[in-house]
Amino acid sequence: MNQITIYTLTLSAIIPLILFIISKIYKKQNKKTPPGPTPIPIIGHLHLIKQPLHRFLQQLSSQYGQIYSLRFGFRPVVVISSPSIVEECFTKHDIVLANRPRLLVGKHLNYDWTTLGAVSYGPLWRDLRRVMTLEFFSNIQLNLLTHVRVEEVRLLAKDLFKQGRNEFVEVEMRPRFSELSFNIVMRMVTGKRYFGAEVEGLEEAMVFRGIARDVFELGGASNLVDCFPFLRWFGVWELEKKMMDVRKKMDDFLDGLMDECRRNKSEVGFDAENRTPLIYKLLNLQESDPVSYSNQIIKGIIMIMLVAGTDTTNVTLEWALSLLLNHPHILEKARLEIDANIGKDRLVDETDLQNLPFIQHIINETFRLFPAVPLLSPHEPSEDCTIAGYYVPKGTMVLINAWEIHRNPNLWEDSLSFKPERFEGKHGDEYRLKLIQFGLGRRSCPGAPLANKVLGLTLATLIQCFEWENIDHEKLDMAEGFGLSMPKAVPLKAMCKTRQSIVHVIAKI
Ligand code: HEM
Repeated sequence: MNQITIYTLTLSAIIPLILFIISKIYKKQNKKTPPGPTPIPIIGHLHLIKQPLHRFLQQLSSQYGQIYSLRFGFRPVVVISSPSIVEECFTKHDIVLANRPRLLVGKHLNYDWTTLGAVSYGPLWRDLRRVMTLEFFSNIQLNLLTHVRVEEVRLLAKDLFKQGRNEFVEVEMRPRFSELSFNIVMRMVTGKRYFGAEVEGLEEAMVFRGIARDVFELGGASNLVDCFPFLRWFGVWELEKKMMDVRKKMDDFLDGLMDECRRNKSEVGFDAENRTPLIYKLLNLQESDPVSYSNQIIKGIIMIMLVAGTDTTNVTLEWALSLLLNHPHILEKARLEIDANIGKDRLVDETDLQNLPFIQHIINETFRLFPAVPLLSPHEPSEDCTIAGYYVPKGTMVLINAWEIHRNPNLWEDSLSFKPERFEGKHGDEYRLKLIQFGLGRRSCPGAPLANKVLGLTLATLIQCFEWENIDHEKLDMAEGFGLSMPKAVPLKAMCKTRQSIVHVIAKI
């Protein structure tokens, strides 16, 4: 090959590439991207960020509007806080936006992006969502395991009863709610009870409880490597090391659990009412299809259930009870509803919840003011798209500020006040786009029905069985703490006493 041929070949390869890059830049420049503050080179807007992130993003939206753009290092971000744009996202662009950004937490703590929460939209996501709906989240499956939730909530009531049988005692609710939600999900998934008087292996449970919390916290940590992916060329960073340590602990725990369940499998089998915990069903599926139900996939399923399903529920319970303590007339109204429907000769049950609309209004109003996941989970378009007339390129991180929508005074009258009555006589469709604590569209929360059952039953039981007062009659501090699930900054402590009219029922638990 002579030199001229080499030049010609090189040019014929390079020229189309240059033209392609120029056309991309040209196209990009001619497309209107959402407005936003001017970024500084390389770091974008990272230097501006303040915690809590949802409040910081709300401040920016008052300057730049209900869709605006930011840059976290190299990662473009679009923030949305309008119900009509949210509707556009999850109808017109639902499939395009069904991807999740490939964050580092997905690699280390979501088994290489193979869990239901972190996997990209596609065949694996569809398979996971189908099997989880069929085997766990459907109404039929949830109803088969009602006894687990009822028993756990009643054990919580029994514990409080022992403390405050005849007089007001001070109780700390955060650890109790945390153990309740952990035990419920763990029992539904593995059949094992981890916390409480009658259990073994508390140490093991504490370890895994810590891991589940770490996974949640590390998922929320602002991670430089996610903003500047090239940093990984220079080795493993501190946060990544922590993720790898947690992954190791989590893996050991889940391997041990799976081995134990394999050993127990023949004994547990399917009971007459088919009330089998999820893990045994997955192990059965593994026998007939070991490729689709590999150990990694099963561990990922258990992990995501614990991480997505526990903290979200217990922080909501803590907010709800705190709001009731600060609004005793609402607490009283809820109690009257329970007494009128159930009386004082039996404890409230899950089937009663349909007759307790005011309890559901309290839960909705709690979600409105304190959504457990204020920015939902990030979405990422799988191809370039146009949202609200703006160009949003593939790979942008799309954040929905549910917290801001929930408190927007143009959408909600007296938007910062706790008024469960605002939902009275309203049909869900009327607030479908402005109360979005579980997200919308294909990637919305599959655990919503389960969460509503646990929240309803727990709150109704606590209201039916106990009198509640603030310590020293001081209003509770309702400041928000940090974390991916939005906790109360100050853990809830309250005065609690058993209602004397119901002692004869609780004493039998
Ligand atoms: C108060 C309770 C809960 C709240 C507020 C909540 C909220 C959310 C939100 C906002 C999302 C992301 C939606 C989006 O991407 O736009 C989500 C996803 C998810 N939630 Fe929940 N959740 C709760 C309880 C639960 C429970 C009890 C479980 C299971 C035991 C669960 C399992 C999941 C899973 C697996 C996903 C990922 C779905 C996917 O990406 O396809 N959640 N949840």
